[in-house]
Amino acid sequence: MTVTVAQVGRYEGQEVELAGWVYNRRSSGRIAFLLLRDGTGVIQCVLSRDRVGDQGLEVFEGLTQESSCRVRGVVRADRRAPGGYELDVTALEPVHVAEDYPIKLKEHGVDFLMDHRHLWIRTPRQNAILRVRAAVMAAAAEALAREGFVRVDAPILTPSAPEGTTNLFETDYFGDKAYLSQSGQLYMEAACMALGKVYCLGPTFRAEQSKTRRHLLEFWMLEPEAAFFTHEDNVALQERLVRQVVLAVLERCPRELETLGRDPEHLRRQVEGPFARITYDEALRILDERGLGLPWGEDFGAPHETALSQHFGRPVFVERFPTRVKAFYMEPDPQRPEVALCADLLAPDGYGEIIGGSQRISDLDLLLRRIDEHGLSREALAWYIDLRRYGSVPHAGFGLGIERTVAWICGLEHVREAIPFPRLLNRLYP
Ligand code: 4AD
Ligand code: MG
Repeated sequence: MTVTVAQVGRYEGQEVELAGWVYNRRSSGRIAFLLLRDGTGVIQCVLSRDRVGDQGLEVFEGLTQESSCRVRGVVRADRRAPGGYELDVTALEPVHVAEDYPIKLKEHGVDFLMDHRHLWIRTPRQNAILRVRAAVMAAAAEALAREGFVRVDAPILTPSAPEGTTNLFETDYFGDKAYLSQSGQLYMEAACMALGKVYCLGPTFRAEQSKTRRHLLEFWMLEPEAAFFTHEDNVALQERLVRQVVLAVLERCPRELETLGRDPEHLRRQVEGPFARITYDEALRILDERGLGLPWGEDFGAPHETALSQHFGRPVFVERFPTRVKAFYMEPDPQRPEVALCADLLAPDGYGEIIGGSQRISDLDLLLRRIDEHGLSREALAWYIDLRRYGSVPHAGFGLGIERTVAWICGLEHVREAIPFPRLLNRLYP
């Protein structure tokens, strides 16, 4: 029976078969050690001449790094072993002997590793990140399902630009112009009028000219949208969602966090209590005290976000930004129309914005004015404008960036490791 490395603990004292790749190996004459990885973990397999004979050791000698093989053996508990178990090998069978493997078990430069991303993802650290990423998306989908949200998929090829025209990926659509989606939001606004509470989860595209540790050209976004939701409902949902996602990762991925050197108690403390909440105006005062003063009405740059995100030791909502630095669809604060009913959620530890959200304009005339002010096309957005003609209601939603959330939870230096195959300025390969 073939079992996985993660399962071997259930078979102590029994003979099992494992299938995987040679992560590392060493030998000392009569005894040889093969570190086998199968994607679920790494286990040390011990080959002694007594059990596998000269022939077994010869097979071992031929197995280069990353060769694939099947191993039979008896599971033995060993407290010193990384996963708690070792395998006393009874038979070893090669599947494919690898050519000289380019990634050695030593430090490589980031460019080299990025060029070999298709192989780099085999290493334990990258494996752990990809598992956390999967857990984040699964936990978020589960949390939203519990809240009554229905998944509705948004298109990728679109005629419009919800987040401004400066970073669009344009493509030819049989003679017409089409753009890769920057956000599924506008479609979710239509969908929430049909289903109540909805969300989409998919890739989004921004031709970002900036090279920062927070920007990808293709990133995944989770975008909930709910009819009859106010700004307050929206912020409360974001807090519940982020807390549940982090707690789920702590529960499901303890070994991954250990591999990444991320202290689970540190993360737990960050999300356990209520998140901080400040206005844009208060944020300006905090920034001013730190020598990062900005005139009212300017948007934050990377250093401002980093400073605010380090200030609280827990996630912080910054709400009510000046309308003029935000997207066309945001509802103005009725008490103070120069600011919007919006919030960005900044993750702690300097990770910056992980969520952007707002209540949306529900009034037809105001929406038309904003579309004109932003130089957008009424024609391309006719369907979106329609939503304000047929039973318009207050509604709100947000977009959570998957990679930035994963980077924070995993404690990564750069979002490029939070996605399997990153698309960056000057990088489309592999
Ligand atoms: O703040 P943004 O631009 O908001 C929207 O797109 C809204 N339409 C979402 C909505 O209300 N449905 O982006 C939302 C989040 C950001 O907070 C960030 O986490 C992530 O998406 N994000 C990026 N992540 C990686 N690389 C980029 N270039 C990103 N741009 C935004
Ligand atoms: Mg934003």
